[in-house]
Amino acid sequence: MIVAIDGPAGAGKSTVARALAGRLGYRYLDTGAMYRALAWLALNRGVASADAEALGALARAHQVELGLGGAVAIAGSDVTAAIRTPEVDRVVSAVSAHPQVREVMRARQRELSLVVDCVMEGRDIGTVVAPQAELKVYLVADPDERVRRRLAQRPEASAAELLARDAGDAERMQPAADAVQLDTTGLSIDEVIDRIESLLRERAA
Ligand code: DC
Repeated sequence: MIVAIDGPAGAGKSTVARALAGRLGYRYLDTGAMYRALAWLALNRGVASADAEALGALARAHQVELGLGGAVAIAGSDVTAAIRTPEVDRVVSAVSAHPQVREVMRARQRELSLVVDCVMEGRDIGTVVAPQAELKVYLVADPDERVRRRLAQRPEASAAELLARDAGDAERMQPAADAVQLDTTGLSIDEVIDRIESLLRERAA
C-alpha cells in the first residue's frame, strides 16, 4: 500500500506524512531528504550543483540510507541535521533537477516503496515514482502560509529562498491527474490527516 503525498515546500507534507505514517503504522519515506543528502555530499566534496555527470556519479556511488526513526545518512555520515541548513536549501533544487540524479534516486525510492506499506512524500511520487499508489494527495497552501510555517520550523530559513526554490522545482511539481488536491491553508495537522484518513476509508470501501 502506497500513499503518495506531493506538493510544494511548506504545504505541510513532512509533518502530515510523518504523522499519517505513524497513525497507519506505515513506513514514512521522505524523498526530499534523499536529494538533500546528495546536495550535502556535493557541497562537502566540492561538486558544483550544475555538474550533472559528477552528481550522477556521486549518487550512484553513495546510496542514501533512511533510518526508521528518521535518520538520514550518506557516505558514512549521519546528515539528519546537516541537510536542513540554508546552504543545502540553496543548492538542493539545482542538484535534484538533473536527470542523471533523478534516475538513481527514483530507482532507490521505488525499491524502498515496494517492500513495505508506506507514506511517501515528495514532488513526483504520484506522477513518476509510484503512479500505482493507492492514494495520491497533492497538498497546497497559500504562499504566505507556507513561508510562515517554514519560518516557524526553521527561523534561519529565508522566505525569498523558499519561493525561489519552489520556482526551480515547479516543473517537477505537477499534480498527478488522479491526485486529490487538498488546500491546507488554515487547517490544523490533525484536520489534514483526518481528511486523508477518510479518503483512505472511501478507497477501501
Ligand atoms: O521536500 P524537500 O523540501 O525537503 O525537498 C528538497 C528538494 O528536493 C526540493 O527543492 C525539490 C527536490 N525534490 C524533488 O525534486 N523530488 C522529490 N520527490 C522530492 C524532493
